[in-house]
Amino acid sequence: MYLKYIKEKHPMVNLDSFDRRMNVVVAGASGGIGHALVQQLVSHPSVAQVHALTRNPDQLLLEQKDKLCVHHVDILDEASLSEAAKHFRSITIDLFIVASGILHGAGLAPEKSLRALQSDSFIEVMQINALAPMLVAKHFLPRMTRDGKAVFSVISARVGSISDNRLGGWYTYRASKAALNMLLKTLSIESSRTMPNLIVAGLHPGTVDTGLSKPYQRNVKPEKLFTPDQSAAFLLNVVNGLSVEQSGKVLAWDGQQVDP
Ligand SMILES: NC(=O)c1ccc[n+]([C@@H]2O[C@H](COP(=O)([O-])OP(=O)(O)OC[C@H]3O[C@@H](n4cnc5c(N)ncnc54)[C@H](OP(=O)(O)O)[C@@H]3O)[C@@H](O)[C@H]2O)c1
Repeated sequence: MYLKYIKEKHPMVNLDSFDRRMNVVVAGASGGIGHALVQQLVSHPSVAQVHALTRNPDQLLLEQKDKLCVHHVDILDEASLSEAAKHFRSITIDLFIVASGILHGAGLAPEKSLRALQSDSFIEVMQINALAPMLVAKHFLPRMTRDGKAVFSVISARVGSISDNRLGGWYTYRASKAALNMLLKTLSIESSRTMPNLIVAGLHPGTVDTGLSKPYQRNVKPEKLFTPDQSAAFLLNVVNGLSVEQSGKVLAWDGQQVDP
């Protein structure tokens, strides 16, 4: 269904399944995919306001537009999440996308074998990829729209699928995304009781040309490496197509479900 967009440089984004002009929040807004999401949402006619949550507000503040509101937030810091959530006392959120995550960094790289497993790195990646999105949910779910379509989504990864794991390796990153997927499923069950309109979803963005994937792109065919813009457009179209029946699932950029 989304394949026809692949070759387009700027895929069309449709958000018409939402019931009103949308208030959207993007966390990890300075990242490759997060920033592309913010840019597309800000210029979309279906969007009223975009709130960007980031540890690095400077760049986004330079781009400040009427529809963009930048919040300095560290999603691992509950005090900063709680402070940011106060801005949403009088408006509700129609779409929340957590676009933060980590694969490598200073002293941290995905493991090729078990010998490389390190407990400090494991804990750090788990905190950022699995725990932090749940802390975000804890503080922001009460601010989500209750009388129309509402989506709380987190960018996950296909490598978090246990049934799809054929290559092995990347113990920590795989485990962090598998844990995230379980946490999202659990959240979808709890929220269905009190917020039956809310859709909780994981999203796989494809392989995207960002700092996160840069060191691992060598074996990716050019047509399978998306620009952040392309991936952001695919993901927004997937979000537009989501229904409550899909809550708790992980969907890929092409709308296909990623098996657990
Ligand atoms: N690129 C790919 O090929 C690919 C494939 C599958 C899945 N993904 C997933 O897509 C998401 C976005 O990745 P990306 O490619 O856009 O990566 P990116 O360009 O490295 O952006 C990741 C963002 O995550 C936030 N972040 C990083 N470290 C953090 C920390 N210690 N504490 C809090 N926030 C932190 C930062 O946002 P702020 O500085 O704004 O807070 C950062 O800009 C990730 O969850 C990633 O796992 C990416």
